[in-house]
This record gives sequence, C-alpha cells and structure tokens, in this order.
Amino acid sequence: MKKILVIGSLNMDQVLQIEHTPVPGETILCRDMKLVCGGKGANQAFTCGRLGCNVEMLGSVGQDENGDALLTNLMKEGVETCHVQRLSDHPTGVAVIAVENSGNNSIIVIQGANLMTDEAYIRANTDRILEADAIVLQLEIPLPAVTLAAKEGKKAGKLVVLDPAPAAKLPDELYHCVDILKPNETELGLLTGMPTDSPEEVETAARCLLERGVKNVVVTLGGAGAMLVNEGGSVVFPGKKVEVADTTAAGDSFTAAMTMLLAQGYPLEQAITFAIEVAAIVVTRPGAQSSIPKADEIAKLLDK
Ligand code: RIB
Repeated sequence: MKKILVIGSLNMDQVLQIEHTPVPGETILCRDMKLVCGGKGANQAFTCGRLGCNVEMLGSVGQDENGDALLTNLMKEGVETCHVQRLSDHPTGVAVIAVENSGNNSIIVIQGANLMTDEAYIRANTDRILEADAIVLQLEIPLPAVTLAAKEGKKAGKLVVLDPAPAAKLPDELYHCVDILKPNETELGLLTGMPTDSPEEVETAARCLLERGVKNVVVTLGGAGAMLVNEGGSVVFPGKKVEVADTTAAGDSFTAAMTMLLAQGYPLEQAITFAIEVAAIVVTRPGAQSSIPKADEIAKLLDK
C-alpha cells in the first residue's frame, strides 16, 4: 500500500464552547473546557490512519502528558510515530479553540515543541521522506523546515501536498515544489493579497499561485464545496448541506482524505469529491480528532 508521510504540528486542543467571540475589551463566560487531541499535522495523520492508510507522522512533542496522549491517539489508528521527537525542554503545543454556537471557531496556537520541528530535524529524517509516496505539510512548524521537506520530496519525485494554514507569505522556492496547494478562501486571500469573495475572484487568485509554480490549487469553500484550478481550467465541486456543529479539523480531514485517494492513484477530481464527503461528516461533530469518521462510515462512502 502507498505510504503517506505527514510532517507537521501536534497540539492538545483546549476547546471552549462560547455564545459569541469576544470583541476587544469584552469578557465572556464559558461553562467548561474540553481537552481534545489536535494539531493540523496530527489531525491529518490521524485521518489517514482512520481511513486505513499506511501513514507516518513526523513532528515534535514534549515529555509530558499531552505528548503521551497525542502519540497514543495516533498509534491507536495505526499511525507510525517512532520518529516523532520527544523533547524534555519544550512543552507539547497547545491550541485554545473557541467554538461559537454557530460552529465557527477561532484558534490560538501556543507552538511549544512544534517549533523544534526544524531544518535539522528534517535533515535527520530525510530517509522517511524517501520511503513515502506522498508528503503532506502545513504551516504550524517553522517555514524553513516546511520548505526543506517540500524540496526533498520534490527532488525524490514524491507527491507534495501543502495545506497553507495558518496562512503566511511563502517563498517561490516552496511554491515550485508543491503539486497540490489546498487553501481555504480566506487563506487564498492572505497568500495572494487578492479578493476572494466570488467564484471569479477565487479563480483569479488561484491562477496567481499557479504562476508562482504550484501545479494545482484546490480551494475549499466551506459549505459551498471546493474549486480546483490548474492549467486545464477550473472546476467547482458542490458542497453538502449538513448541520454544522464545529468546523475544527474540516480542512485537515479534507487534505488527508484527498491525499489518501491521490496516493492510491485515483484522479484528483474523485479525490476532491471524496474529501468533501469526509469533511462534511467532520463538521457535524465537536472537536478535532474526536470528529473524524470511522472506517465503517468511510466504507459506506466508498460504496457510493
Ligand atoms: O485545524 C484545526 C487545528 O488547528 C486544531 O486541532 C488546532 O490544534 C490547530 O492546530
């Protein structure tokens, strides 16, 4: 079976259910706080594991309870974690996630050990990249490490998928290595400095990233689905109408599900359709890894 390597963040999420996001100077009350395993990288690896992929995670956690819980959760889904570094002098990353009753969320990440997933660590693990078929990256670890991993992946002829979240200004040398870039509309706007309020604007902004060297841009559009933009043109994939409880990890599960099908040789169009189905389940449930569908639900989707 093809192997997916996810390189990225692992965070313990502190999830707060709130009526509304406080404005500057406002104090609001919240009944309780739940701990849920998260981190964009870990969520992607967890999804791949749950979907039955051969998947390995590279990243960093502290020698603490949060680190133990995150690794245990990944291992339960069959994710290989033996090269995740455990650091005694850095705490595991933490994300504070405020989820409004509407399901929309705001996230603040305290990076902790994720900052140590640096170039030296990537260099020490180049063999893991060579062993994989597809490399999945996001931006919650240092950008030079993301760039180096993408370059190594590209050099070795691997499929390189980048989820540019949280959005940051990216160097052209990174764009050149990316086969599939998967921003949401907001991230696309931040990456390009262009408006993304209409389908036409989304396509124009995505084309600007193609000019920088990316092969395919897959823009997730929330409930409206996704748009694929590449040399061949642009296609919109409709979304699914569902009752949204919490959008956390929707983008992560989308990236993972899409990469899983691509790695197994399915066409990109089919991979996007499948990813929309998976993410549509994720948004109906609370939390990050707690919301990822199990194998039997996925099997039903595959039957379709
Ligand atoms: O994409 C959702 C994730 O973003 C959360 O799990 C949180 O840890 C942050 O990394």
